[in-house]
Amino acid sequence: MSEMIRLEQVCLRFKTGFALDGLSFQVEAGQVFGFLGPSGAGKTTTIKLLTKQLQKDSGQIHLLGKPIEEVSRDDFEKIGVLTDTNGLYERMSIEENLRFFARLRNVSLARGEELLKRMGLYESRKTPVKKCSKGMRQRVSLAVVLLHEPKLLFLDEPTSGLDPATIQEVHRLLLEMKEEGTTIFLTTHNMEEADKLCDCVGILDQGRLVTSGSPLELKLRYAHDRINIRTAGGEVITVNKDAAGAEKILELARAGQLMTVHSEEPNLEEIFLMLTGRKF
Ligand SMILES: Nc1ncnc2c1ncn2[C@@H]1O[C@H](COP(=O)(O)OP(=O)(O)OP(=O)(O)O)[C@@H](O)[C@H]1O
Ligand SMILES: [Mg+2]
Repeated sequence: MSEMIRLEQVCLRFKTGFALDGLSFQVEAGQVFGFLGPSGAGKTTTIKLLTKQLQKDSGQIHLLGKPIEEVSRDDFEKIGVLTDTNGLYERMSIEENLRFFARLRNVSLARGEELLKRMGLYESRKTPVKKCSKGMRQRVSLAVVLLHEPKLLFLDEPTSGLDPATIQEVHRLLLEMKEEGTTIFLTTHNMEEADKLCDCVGILDQGRLVTSGSPLELKLRYAHDRINIRTAGGEVITVNKDAAGAEKILELARAGQLMTVHSEEPNLEEIFLMLTGRKF
């Protein structure tokens, strides 16, 4: 199966007025797809639609190669979902939670232990979840989601609230899962993370997809029309990517004055701001 997720003209309207408006995109098997957008753009709503926690008003959704209406409970065994409302048992320790979910998922306890170690939770495994910090909870939730090695993973802001070292560990883990063929649909407010992890990103704004493609495709698509030249005298000259610009570069080169030529490409953060006009 090459297509894990496909949306065609999906619409959903809340009574409050917010709407997902004709959303269409697809995610290939084995890809990491980054779903980006300002707060309130509809990212979590989309994940809820894709995991059957909400119903669309119109349009088509295909999941695991079939219409979402035909996706069964068994199929959902292949899916892992991390959202902010993940149900951990507050009174139980971290380890007890992992054990509980490992039994539920029919997964070996060793897998749970390995994940606790990787998430830096092994030392504090006896701590009750109610005494855990936000970052710890996030890591426990992530460990629970990864227990059964799902084929398709939905991760809603998996690294929010984590310290840089744990973020690196989570990234390593996700890239490892990708290597093993897992498809990952993730939302993030961290553009560097999206750039590093994602094969493809979609930028959502007010319920509409404003652009999509690989990070490199987007950078080239929205590349500035400018080239910066540094001369032998230390002067920086900016020219456009046109005949006149080329002439100027040639002229400096002939005169032995050309030191560097630098074509600036925007990073994902700049593209995001350019397209949504907002901070995230
Ligand atoms: N069940 C609901 N009923 C009515 N409105 C809702 C409901 N769930 C979400 N909304 C509204 O839909 C819009 C999109 O919310 P959503 O949670 O999908 O945004 P998001 O892109 O995930 O934002 P964030 O980056 O802050 O997590 C918001 O305006 C929100 O208030
Ligand atoms: Mg959200």
